[in-house]
Amino acid sequence: MEEKTITQVPKPIILKLGGSVISIKNKSFALNKRAIMRLAKEIERADVSSLIIVHGGGSFGHPVAKQYKIDEGYKDSSQIIGFSKTHQAMTILNKHVTDSLINRKIPAVEIQPSSIIITRSGRIHIMEERPLTRLLELGFIPILYGDAVPDSSNGFAILSGDQLVSQLAIRLNVDRIIMGVDVDGLYTADPKACPSARLLQHITLQQLKKLRKNIEKTNATDVTGGMLGKILELIPALEHRVNVRIVNALKPGNVYRALKGEVVGTFIEKG
Ligand SMILES: Nc1ncnc2c1ncn2[C@@H]1O[C@H](COP(=O)(O)OP(=O)(O)OP(=O)(O)O)[C@@H](O)[C@H]1O
Ligand SMILES: [Mg+2]
Repeated sequence: MEEKTITQVPKPIILKLGGSVISIKNKSFALNKRAIMRLAKEIERADVSSLIIVHGGGSFGHPVAKQYKIDEGYKDSSQIIGFSKTHQAMTILNKHVTDSLINRKIPAVEIQPSSIIITRSGRIHIMEERPLTRLLELGFIPILYGDAVPDSSNGFAILSGDQLVSQLAIRLNVDRIIMGVDVDGLYTADPKACPSARLLQHITLQQLKKLRKNIEKTNATDVTGGMLGKILELIPALEHRVNVRIVNALKPGNVYRALKGEVVGTFIEKG
């Protein structure tokens, strides 16, 4: 059979849809269906030529992972079913997101992280990215998510969508990262806990590193470290000169604008 050869493919954009956006994070297994449908519309309207979507666990993945201590690695056999349940929760959430995209004729194809990745002590160690890059070349929109994955030292681990975003950005040399969350961007402190927190519109990697101690893990239901975990994960991508935008994806139009290259929320660059 003739092999389809692809020539020049533009650098992809990575869009993370936070679990804080597509689900109601403090309510178990609660979907934010309206946000998912609106975001599919914005992604359709933006019509970017090369896009990878990653979504978080929200109230689907995090609570199950926490219940079975999947993030702590294999300790006893009672966790085994918990691994399956954590992954199952993620596939349920993923199905809603993928269905909404396909309903708008966006050619999204799910890529299951636990089938292409092995971590070592929680860090991506082996990743078979060729199906993903091939799908990208063909014009598909790969969609991945934070997942329970096999781990070569700890049995299994939780791979955050944030780590996945950062690693994909480095390995695929992407154009930029857009992180959709439920707040207007990165603040000097958690805006939900500290009303005097100030929104940072433009910061450099160096400033970000200094700010690290002010960023809280906060979210009790997030097994991957909330905003602090996110920032720590993004640092390697920033070092690699991939710019990051953190935007409020609960506000209509923001993801569309960010996909179109407008600066909304927080813009972070190596500087
Ligand atoms: N300095 C800060 N600036 C902005 N948000 C912060 C800060 N510190 C803590 N937060 C909190 O981080 C939260 C976003 O991170 P969180 O991990 O909960 O969401 P998410 O990554 O979208 O979800 P998921 O991990 O399920 O994908 C915000 O809701 C906010 O309350
Ligand atoms: Mg998170």
